[in-house]
Amino acid sequence: MELRQLNAVDLKDKKVLLRLDLNVPLRDGEITDDTRIVAALPTLRHILSQTDKLVIMSHLGRPKGKVDPQYSLLPIGSKLAELLDREVAFVNEYLEEPVDQILAQKDPNQILLLENLRFHPGETSNERDFAQKLATGFDVFVNDAFGTLHRAHASTVGIPELIKPEQRAAGLLVEKEIAQLSKIQKHPESPFVAIVGGSKVSDKIGVTLSLMQHCNSLLVGGAMAYTFLKYLGVNVGNSVVESDKLDLVETIYRNAESRKVEILLPIDHVIAETFAESAPAHITADQQIADGFLGLDIGPKTRALFSDRITHAKTVLWNGPMGVFEWETYSAGTFAVANTVATTQGFTVVGGGDSVAAIKKAGLADQVGHVSTGGGASLEFLEGKVLPGIKVLLK
Ligand code: 3PG
Repeated sequence: MELRQLNAVDLKDKKVLLRLDLNVPLRDGEITDDTRIVAALPTLRHILSQTDKLVIMSHLGRPKGKVDPQYSLLPIGSKLAELLDREVAFVNEYLEEPVDQILAQKDPNQILLLENLRFHPGETSNERDFAQKLATGFDVFVNDAFGTLHRAHASTVGIPELIKPEQRAAGLLVEKEIAQLSKIQKHPESPFVAIVGGSKVSDKIGVTLSLMQHCNSLLVGGAMAYTFLKYLGVNVGNSVVESDKLDLVETIYRNAESRKVEILLPIDHVIAETFAESAPAHITADQQIADGFLGLDIGPKTRALFSDRITHAKTVLWNGPMGVFEWETYSAGTFAVANTVATTQGFTVVGGGDSVAAIKKAGLADQVGHVSTGGGASLEFLEGKVLPGIKVLLK
């Protein structure tokens, strides 16, 4: 089964309904990172080279089925207009009058952007009536919202199901993400080093077990490393530990044994007495963390150990920070990994919200083989799940 690709669908003068993931971070109404908007441009330009009858839809944030002005797509419309050098007509209300009729009334130079789909409860509940109202009259459906493919919502599943299968396609970003992430999932070149971090073992268990099918080394950092150390009987002081998830760690070790995967945990830590940005930092001599202290980052010896493994890898996947990188005092571990990943010769992929934010903050995103625009979607894809938004676009 293959994805139906955009250039396999005739778009000439067709009415196209395009789902994008324009869920970008905003501060005081200003876009603070336009990566997802820029990533959608190749598909937008491809469609606009063949038709001007284009309607774009997206969600922004999680407004829970109600109109909430802080989640309006209006600022994103202005950015799109600037980047495409086209007029973007913003459609606030699209359930009263059929969208294809609004499309028929627009000027030829205009494209339409619908207000946040999640202002309506029918989007996340994949309500048939909501999907029907949006899909009516359209010839083609294109999904280029890679970051949203793991959601079985109206705009990712319900709407395409109402369009003829041969008239539905994946956009160019979706195609690229799948091609790059599949390299990690299918036949990654050895040595393959997977770096996982972040706070919870439970969030990463699926992807970790899946990566262990192919990786040679698993490097574990972030708060989840303390649960691993606890499982091994190491004293982690007051560090955050998921005591009820030690069985998951056991599963990971069992897998590592049978698949001959090396697991590397921090061998030293940056610690503090309290979880506070201003808390004075100390460095431990070894893996142990004394009572009264908690780990907030990997230490210098661990940075060197992890960097050595990463540098010699032919394939690297990084998901999750090594510590509380938002606080400068506890950011060295995450930025050391970011730097090493960026300068490694092998094929490198960074996926998942926080590690992507860290690589961008370090200004190194363009030195990585592939930086995924997906958070949950890239994790679920790497777990080997068939994402609902992909399933509906298969030939
Ligand atoms: C994301 O930011 O990961 C996507 O836009 C999906 O958003 P969601 O987690 O709110 O569905």
